[in-house]
Amino acid sequence: MLGEEPLWCPFGVEQYNIRLTQGTPPNRLEAHMSQTRDHWSSNTGLVLAATGSAIGLGNLWKFPYITWVNDGGAFVLVYLICIAAVGLPIMMAELLIGRRSQKSAVGALKDAAGPAWGLIGGWGVTAGFILLSYYTVIAGWSLFYFAKTVSWTFGSFPEGMVAGDLFNDQVSSAPLQLGLSLAFSAATIGVVYFGVSKGIERVARVFLPILFGILILMLISALGMSGSGEALTFIFRPNFTELEPSSVLEAVGHSFFTLSLGMGAMITYGSYISRKQSVVKASGAIVALDTIIALFATIIMFSVIFSVTGMQQQVDAGEVGAVGMLFVALPELFYTQVPFGVVLGPLFYVLVALAALTSTISLLEVVTSYLIDERGLGRHKATIVSGVAIFVFTIFAALSFTGTPFFSTLEVFQGKAGWFSTADHFVSNWMLPIGGLGITIAVGWFMTRKASESELVDGTEPKWFNYGVWRFFVRFIAPAAVLAIILFVILGRDFS
Ligand code: TRP
Repeated sequence: MLGEEPLWCPFGVEQYNIRLTQGTPPNRLEAHMSQTRDHWSSNTGLVLAATGSAIGLGNLWKFPYITWVNDGGAFVLVYLICIAAVGLPIMMAELLIGRRSQKSAVGALKDAAGPAWGLIGGWGVTAGFILLSYYTVIAGWSLFYFAKTVSWTFGSFPEGMVAGDLFNDQVSSAPLQLGLSLAFSAATIGVVYFGVSKGIERVARVFLPILFGILILMLISALGMSGSGEALTFIFRPNFTELEPSSVLEAVGHSFFTLSLGMGAMITYGSYISRKQSVVKASGAIVALDTIIALFATIIMFSVIFSVTGMQQQVDAGEVGAVGMLFVALPELFYTQVPFGVVLGPLFYVLVALAALTSTISLLEVVTSYLIDERGLGRHKATIVSGVAIFVFTIFAALSFTGTPFFSTLEVFQGKAGWFSTADHFVSNWMLPIGGLGITIAVGWFMTRKASESELVDGTEPKWFNYGVWRFFVRFIAPAAVLAIILFVILGRDFS
């Protein structure tokens, strides 16, 4: 027990002490489970791994963009409210059913709410499968830009290069796209193969501090730029006349995506929590860190945009879209505008790659843990089987922009050509909201009060936590918010 004591652990140490002074022997069931099921070595391990899952392209790529499109201030405030009112309660709900059952998505939902709810778990596993198939492709782009920026830093930045052309050349090259995605998939499989404490947690412990460090360096550099004041005003001064009803739903939807909710990823990570770790405290830490990182990324990007003349117009005119901010505008700006950009450029793409990798491993873990818990496969076999099966679809996604017949032209939803756009449309609009609705209803309405209360109010919870308030949000507020998204999608809104 003592050997497990973490080096730095704000929550864990206190609980270990409680345990030691009370001298409670672990019950037999727990001892049995910890032998067969791998667990996070400490609360910090859990928080870092889950935060790694949450922080990803959603924070660095999507959030700054939707904040821009929705005119900043008021949208950011609504987003923060959604995070607190919808995201945080569901984070606790997912982690708690995982911890309670010690099973991944399908088994945990069955145990919590009844056998039929296994279907919602299966829906989540499918969502993870599809999401990972195209997320890997975007993650691969960060490797390309890392290589490019390194070559510019050590060589020289090509004067007169048209940034948009560089991007188009890379996405339309089939061998390059396949190679980048293959490299990223292999890295993901390589981590998940080693399991929870030796693979996923280890990587999170090393990578997340690096990620935070790079982001803080960039923030300092960005705050020194001339546009930073304007950026901060744009992000933090609410102007409610500019807020549209659909922006509110976009905020709800994004709060799901960014926290990796609605598809069982957090249920799965919750199933590796041992009973002495607090679900409530961990949820608070994960949600807070994810939100801070999204805001930092936005401040950094907007400081650059507001410092460069003409940039704002380009973004508004749609010349620089969601993809554009991260992969078209920024690479060039590092070498022309950003203080210390020659160093920060490559570091930034390391940051994107690390953030994406800690998310892709959690996506793969959702599918892998399903094969382990429900289909009886060993970890190594389960990782290879799921990793390779998903990669087959990654090939489709990687070829979506290459002009290759069929791969680039297949169209299921109108205007969404290729597997990449089709899958993104389906996951963002349908799979995550329906999965999220299912999970809130399962935990809020079908799990007994006694069961959820005993998980959350177990002596590990912090003082600010109130079970009644949590229950109200999970039963009423969260399902209503998600239902509203689904209704808007039915009426034709596109949230992808
Ligand atoms: N949260 C991730 C991001 O912001 C994306 C994501 C959504 C995810 N659902 C997930 C990652 C499930 C891992 C598992 O980029």
